Amino acid sequence: MKKLSTQINKKIEIAPSILSADFTRLGEQLAEAERCGANRIHIDVMDGHFVPPVTMGPVIVEACRKVTHLPLEAHLMTEKPERLFLDFIRAGASIVIVHQEAVTHLHRLIHQVKDSGSQAGVALNPATPIQTLEHVLEELDLVLIMTVNPGYSAQAFIRSMLPKIRALSTMIEERKLAVDIEVDGGISPETASLVVQEGANVLVAGSAIFGSKAGIPAAMKMLQESALRRGS
Ligand code: DX5
Ligand code: ZN
Repeated sequence: MKKLSTQINKKIEIAPSILSADFTRLGEQLAEAERCGANRIHIDVMDGHFVPPVTMGPVIVEACRKVTHLPLEAHLMTEKPERLFLDFIRAGASIVIVHQEAVTHLHRLIHQVKDSGSQAGVALNPATPIQTLEHVLEELDLVLIMTVNPGYSAQAFIRSMLPKIRALSTMIEERKLAVDIEVDGGISPETASLVVQEGANVLVAGSAIFGSKAGIPAAMKMLQESALRRGS
């Protein structure tokens, strides 16, 4: 019998990433995703340094805040996120995710984010071990395991991240913590069930939702059904 996810009782959430949305129709597309059961909105902030592209700033968070009731999470793929996070919280983000690789004083920053009224998450690039979070795990609301190298949507899922998700899930369970495990990159109806099986409970998806030829409602349904296939 296949071992069920250690995080199996956690609610599975879908977080559409607006990086793949049609920005001329952002309000409509967010409303549609919300109607179809999206649980939070994922906003990819890229600074042209930590990753090559430049994408969105706090004004986009502010715009999203006006058109959806869902929690907004800012995924800061930036250098020096300690200089930026407050602007995103002021703009309406209630979850801030910084990259472990971009921060020198991670413990301090996690506390600054939480003291500012936001949930705190830390993202790990594919090559960064989960052990880098060993001594801050208790302080975190969420760990984001990157399942692609950050910077672009529609990249191929890196399968070797599956044991990493499992190891993190075990570490969280052994310490009896309530830390969410989020995955980001290449999540599709083919990969959603795999990551949930290993213990992920928040699934970011960009191109699989906003780039789907089937349309947003059908794409959301396919992802939700795949996520529910865990353990089968
Ligand atoms: C990648 C971003 C992702 C991206 C995911 O650097 O962090 O959030 O939007 O896109 P898909 O789901 O298309 O891989
Ligand atoms: Zn992201």
